[in-house]
Amino acid sequence: MEENLNTFIEHYRNLVDKEIKQQLEKLHISENLKKSMQYSMYAGGKRLRPVLLMASYETYGNNHSKALPVAAALEMIHTYSLVHDDLPAMDDDDTRRGMPTNHKAFGEATAILAGDALLTYSFEIISESIQLSAEEKAKIMAMLAKTSGPSGMVGGQFLDMEAENQRITLEQLETIHTLKTGELLRFAVYAGAFLGNASEEQLKQLEQYAYYLGLIFQVQDDILDVTGDADKIGKPVGSDETNAKSTYPKLLGLEGAIKKKEEYTALAKEALQKADAGNSYLMALTDYFAQRDH
Ligand code: IPE
Ligand code: IPE
Ligand code: MG
Ligand code: MG
Ligand code: MG
Repeated sequence: MEENLNTFIEHYRNLVDKEIKQQLEKLHISENLKKSMQYSMYAGGKRLRPVLLMASYETYGNNHSKALPVAAALEMIHTYSLVHDDLPAMDDDDTRRGMPTNHKAFGEATAILAGDALLTYSFEIISESIQLSAEEKAKIMAMLAKTSGPSGMVGGQFLDMEAENQRITLEQLETIHTLKTGELLRFAVYAGAFLGNASEEQLKQLEQYAYYLGLIFQVQDDILDVTGDADKIGKPVGSDETNAKSTYPKLLGLEGAIKKKEEYTALAKEALQKADAGNSYLMALTDYFAQRDH
């Protein structure tokens, strides 16, 4: 399965990269703004959210070209969130995806606007996709707005900031991780299955799956911030400590964080079985997310 999974990831990474490239090349805008957007989009992200969306689509549907623009749009929102997350006013980090952060390369004002541009352009891409029905567009855009905005990723980023230097409970930390990271992953799982015509019951179980997957992903991100190799993860190690962030290793210790991640993994897989996805790539991706070293 591991060999297959790598081929699967590679396959969709290439398709999504092509879609992203086409979408960005279409823009007739200031060369500097375009360069700044392209810089972060082509910097070598793992593309895990688009791959997850495609895996979810493939589990229930066929004709994947319908889902590709949505996957590209999601990666743009994710990338914008990273560009802003790295800003001096936020995590103040100097490297991302193995390169200088956007504001280091282009200056703060351009980085802010490139982030804004990626966010809004993602909705334009979905609105103009010829393969989606009007109803699908409306549903996908509403979900994406909720997922990325105040009730989702942005809200989580805000709570994460407020929790700096604070003692918080495990429940509060779960909420932060679910929002700042889990929401975009939830969108990937849900939107893929929705476009692939999964049933109501399957979608319900997938919500449960995505909840745990989001936690798994961010717990591993927190662990890698402590134990990771900066060259491999492409961003600094120890950023959370420097910013006095509330993280799983901080709250539970490294062993405790790993144990919690294993619990979440078992629960995620249980939900996947119930969503009739026990033999899908979603299953293999769950372990991949939990054990990744970058
Ligand atoms: C990093 O996400 C930010 C988090 C939400 C933890 P990824 O680890 O997916 O980063 P890229 O896209 O590969 O750079
Ligand atoms: C940020 O979490 C998640 C986002 C919404 C961008 P982190 O601040 O831990 O992400 P990294 O470690 O910088 O990628
Ligand atoms: Mg952060
Ligand atoms: Mg950060
Ligand atoms: Mg982190």
